[in-house]
Amino acid sequence: MISREIIDEIVFRNDIEQVIGSYVTLKRAGSNLNGLCPFHNEKTPSFTVFPGTKSFYCFGCGSGGDVITFIMRAENLDYKEALEFLAARAGITIPDDNDSPVEKTIPRKRIYEMNMDAAKFFRSCLFDEGYGREAMAYLHNERKLSMATIKHFGLGYSPNNAWLLTNHMKKLGYTDDELVTGFLCGRSQKSGRLYDYFRNRVIFPIIDTSGNVVAFGGRVMDDSKPKYLNTSDTPAFKKSRHLFALNYAKKHCEEQMMLCEGYMDVIAMHAAGFENAVATLGTAITSEQARIFAKYTKKVIICYDADNAGQTAAKKAMRLLDEVGVEVRVLKIPGAKDPDEYIKKYGVESFKKAIGESKTGFDYQLDRIISSYNLEIAEDKIKASEEATALIVAAYSQVQRDIYVRKAAEKLGVSAEAMKADVDRQRKKLAREFRQKELSDAKMSVKNLGNRTNTEAAKHIRANANEEQLLGLMLVFDEYRRDAANGSAGISVDDFVTEFGRRVFVTLCELENSESGFSQAVLNQHFIDKEFDLIKKIEMERRQLGRNDQAVFEACINGLKQEKRRIEQSGEDISAQLQAARAHLQKKKNKEN
Ligand code: CTP
Ligand code: MN
Repeated sequence: MISREIIDEIVFRNDIEQVIGSYVTLKRAGSNLNGLCPFHNEKTPSFTVFPGTKSFYCFGCGSGGDVITFIMRAENLDYKEALEFLAARAGITIPDDNDSPVEKTIPRKRIYEMNMDAAKFFRSCLFDEGYGREAMAYLHNERKLSMATIKHFGLGYSPNNAWLLTNHMKKLGYTDDELVTGFLCGRSQKSGRLYDYFRNRVIFPIIDTSGNVVAFGGRVMDDSKPKYLNTSDTPAFKKSRHLFALNYAKKHCEEQMMLCEGYMDVIAMHAAGFENAVATLGTAITSEQARIFAKYTKKVIICYDADNAGQTAAKKAMRLLDEVGVEVRVLKIPGAKDPDEYIKKYGVESFKKAIGESKTGFDYQLDRIISSYNLEIAEDKIKASEEATALIVAAYSQVQRDIYVRKAAEKLGVSAEAMKADVDRQRKKLAREFRQKELSDAKMSVKNLGNRTNTEAAKHIRANANEEQLLGLMLVFDEYRRDAANGSAGISVDDFVTEFGRRVFVTLCELENSESGFSQAVLNQHFIDKEFDLIKKIEMERRQLGRNDQAVFEACINGLKQEKRRIEQSGEDISAQLQAARAHLQKKKNKEN
């Protein structure tokens, strides 16, 4: 691990104003500096650098931290990589550390190099008369891909042989650790011997916007399972931060982009001339990916599969894209299960027409509500109206709500006045609930005012409460730490709100994944005294609660994610009202003492 002294030195030698200044145009405002936030889309600057405390904060999206956190986010690096980045910038050499696991020290450049060599190998196998015959026939005949398309996407084939790639890569000088870390090889539990991770699969390289091969997807050519194998997250790759084919789509995306579910849909769409199509990498869209869209385009057409899973996923995509201010349309493809099949069956012109007829997010959701009820039945009609009302309540502007009310009332066959009254009442209720929540936040925050170690705790009370619970569980119970560290719990560092919580979480995960594993003693080394005191306090409080409960763990994860979303969405910091309430309570407390 990197010592505290070195970290301090790195922070000291990397002036935050200069570092951030090379990413963001900053204007002086009193003792601070302002600029347009690089982490969300905005037109008026709410991103602030505080040279006094060597920190930054965006009042728009709530991201904040120190120079290290900034580089983590701006360069897409983890904590250690960001330190290395900054050390290199300042000409500081981080002393070699022999007891840290090898995998953490493989530079991302090396992984890109390795992936590029692997991609070349896969491609040569596909084009090989012997090895590649069957795969080539599959791509040509069953998937109807032209040679040009196959070459354009750099498709390949991994032969049905456990050591072909492994041997090839070793000849090129890659070490076992590099190959395993890069997810090109697995390591046999018994013999320790390496074997090829992808076997007998058509290979789709994932290429980032700088042209690096960052990962691979591999598809079987029959109905066997799993249909796809994908590179897991590596030091050079986080699937939640990439979009397939963005390297091409970025040149055709100013007006709109298409979001698909699968690699094959994207490829079929590009081949048909829709070069603005991208897909997530086998997961539902994340808020990070939504922000990528916001950076590149104004409008996204969601082209998901016609099945239920696809339509549920569309709802989530709609919400996340809406949150980052991207206009959304939803494509309907009757008579086909996905865009790939649709284009093959009905042709490009028909697909173009379908795109032209794609619906706005509101129309699409309203139609879905209406089609799931029988409006002839009074009870159904009421339920449908209630759902439509809830949909309209969520719209930001009065004009929008007015238009929606009229449209929905007409389609549902109810009176627009009655519906408007319902919408207004619901909005009042929401506002009331929001005020109550703020007040109880204020009460809780008084408790956190004394927290000098995690200074963001008072600002983000709810998030902090969830973070502390979560970290407490990870400190006390091995299985939560394990699940969080290997990603199966569905929580990642990006879900954390406070910089301190993030740091503790990352450290716990890193230790858990390290060869020597987690122990209190090593944990201690990663934090200065007062920080470790706070960690101890979190752990002790959790121990007192006793009961090891999976439901609590999951609730904390959901709670934290929800808070994070809320903070990002409302762009809130501390409202004037909250500050007033806090001052009031503080005064009262002082009197009592
Ligand atoms: N996926 C995956 N693992 C699976 C199944 C799917 O990672 N076992 C991911 C892949 O990224 C895939 C996407 O989910 O591209 C969508 O799945 P699907 O619609 O089944 O894949 P398509 O790309 O449309 O593939 P195909 O048309 O060949 O079935
Ligand atoms: Mn498909």
